[in-house]
Amino acid sequence: MGAPTAQANTTFPAARVVSAAALPYCAAMTEIESHLHELRTFPPPPSFAAKARVDAASGAALRELAATDLNKYWRSVAQHLYWERVPTQIATYTPGAFHDATWFADGTTNLAYNCLDRHIAAGLGGKRALIWEGEPGDSREFTYDQLFAEVAKASNALVALGVTRNDAVAIYMPQVPEAMIAMLACTRLGVMYTVVFGGFSSTALGDRMVDCDAKFVITADGGYRRGAALDLKSAVDAAVADLDVKHVLVVKRTGAACNMKAGRDVWWHDVVGAASAEHKPVWLPSEHPLFTLYTSGSTGKPKGLVHTTGGYMVAAYQSTKLVFDMRDDDIYWCTADIGWITGHTYVTYGPLLNAATVFIYEGGPMHPTPARFWQMIEKWKVSIFYTAPTAIRAFMRTGVDHVKAHSLASLRLLGSVGEPINPEAWMWYHEHIGGGRCPIVDTWWQTETGSIMISPLPGEIATKPGSATKPLPGIAAVVAHKDGTLAAPNEGGYLAVTAPWPSMARTIRGDHQRFIDTYFKDIPGMYFAGDGARQDADGYLWVLGRVDDVLNVSGHRLSTMEVESAVVSHMSVAEAAVVGRPDELKGQGIVVFVTPKQGVVADDALATAIRAKVVAEIGALARPDEIRFTESLPKTRSGKIMRRLLREIASGKGVAGDVTTLEDQASLERLAQSYQHED
Ligand code: WT7
Repeated sequence: MGAPTAQANTTFPAARVVSAAALPYCAAMTEIESHLHELRTFPPPPSFAAKARVDAASGAALRELAATDLNKYWRSVAQHLYWERVPTQIATYTPGAFHDATWFADGTTNLAYNCLDRHIAAGLGGKRALIWEGEPGDSREFTYDQLFAEVAKASNALVALGVTRNDAVAIYMPQVPEAMIAMLACTRLGVMYTVVFGGFSSTALGDRMVDCDAKFVITADGGYRRGAALDLKSAVDAAVADLDVKHVLVVKRTGAACNMKAGRDVWWHDVVGAASAEHKPVWLPSEHPLFTLYTSGSTGKPKGLVHTTGGYMVAAYQSTKLVFDMRDDDIYWCTADIGWITGHTYVTYGPLLNAATVFIYEGGPMHPTPARFWQMIEKWKVSIFYTAPTAIRAFMRTGVDHVKAHSLASLRLLGSVGEPINPEAWMWYHEHIGGGRCPIVDTWWQTETGSIMISPLPGEIATKPGSATKPLPGIAAVVAHKDGTLAAPNEGGYLAVTAPWPSMARTIRGDHQRFIDTYFKDIPGMYFAGDGARQDADGYLWVLGRVDDVLNVSGHRLSTMEVESAVVSHMSVAEAAVVGRPDELKGQGIVVFVTPKQGVVADDALATAIRAKVVAEIGALARPDEIRFTESLPKTRSGKIMRRLLREIASGKGVAGDVTTLEDQASLERLAQSYQHED
């Protein structure tokens, strides 16, 4: 092995004092003030800390080890997992430029083996691995032995269909066990897959399939959502109509009539049902591509972030174990859909690597009543519950009676992810769901980071409502300025990471330069996350939201450019600008400013048609909240749309700052005025 290369330089000149206002436009920038006044702290409850995997003393020891010898720390974590060839290399990268980092590069392993076979070999085959409940109330349970058998059969079926390691598989599924089984089968074979969230449109699915050259699709006849059967198969048919696709594998879920194309479409129960339940995993190099997951950036089309095997596995295992304090008798429920990174790392891999019992639910939180989740927790005795602030705020609105009607006594730990959690929602979660006794882990991370980066360890760190607290051991997260200097305590800055971590994305599929430019150019020597943050005097991190053109709508990440290009693809639209505005429930809402083509009548029918166009191009998650017609968009002399101004108009704030570069002052005034007359 080569000796692990040096750490990125973490010594910085004295911090420059820049006010938080110097940051471009954090969605939650005004929250800085309120966070400064957040003085409540919640130490780990003694009953929790007494049994926790990590308490104050062991937490300090872990942090000490990671700070003095990062490679030794991650090597010690990797030792808990099975490697067919044990790695001698840990992190390898060019100092000062860790975009090229590799992890455990000379090791070989298999992630699915570590999720299943390893536990069976340890005598846990009879333990429940997965409990699933469908929206109509049907349920299924799988022991580790049974889940292994299903994954083995699916692996054999994929091989029989001609899937090879040179292929990519698209997974477009409702939240059913087969979605996880499909992921694990690909992983077992070393076949790169991409999960496309079932809420994305056929166009979005087709675009992603083209980008990663997927010749196979795994889908279902449908899934249940809010009492209705969602039709996924027709969306697949539309997406692949012009593509060279070899097979579409269809899980029967709703029993809806499906158009099965002869020779191409096959039923899951036919091919998987007939396959052998024996399968030997394929041993793969640590850096073997595991999956590609598309996410929105500030420009251009969605980026296909590529994660690899060994490093992702090690970080998923460790973060789940430490952050969720995972124990043998836990019933763990993360409400994310498998179509998002959270569904990969904290529904599927992290919990299974820890031999946990995972609960998954097919439907949404509000159907048939806002008590649905509390019914599930009571029925299945869920002990760890991980959800998003947007859901918590929706529950707050529907009132505590729905909560009180159920016993949530089984809960011992709560988690939050996806967007900053406002202190009010945190307190409500703490009191009404956690009964005042459950620590809350507010976990900051991204599709790019692969696993949780900043979070309290619940037995170690006192929490403060609204703060994700501290980086995990081995994670070098800081608040920095664009020149690479560190921000002073309580000073606003950019959230950045100064050293590589095992589960970092390795590239953007097909565009490595874009990967380097997006994440490693803005702040010299650091990974730039795209978020604004500050660190208080106790070293607690407060994430303030995106500082780029990425929107966070109900915890779903969308790019303003992506929505804009969907809007302008409507034949009646001349020009459009999309901005976010604060939304109490969703975090951000989507406002579209539209200039129609000459002679087009700007009426409700056009607004409806534009909304429909966005839904068709991207999916219902991108449906604009408001469409504003305008004769022209405010622009600078160089022709750039003044987004800051539009954001201020959209959020109902007075227009502030220097607007003298506006091409057409009158148009802005008209815009600002017409906005004020709204509702
Ligand atoms: C963006 C990443 C990985 C989880 C699901 C979202 C925001 C995520 C938090 C948090 C404040 C958060 C950030 C980040 N975000 N978690 N706990 N506190 N902000 O993954 O779609 O890749 O979005 O979500 O803005 O950059 P994603």
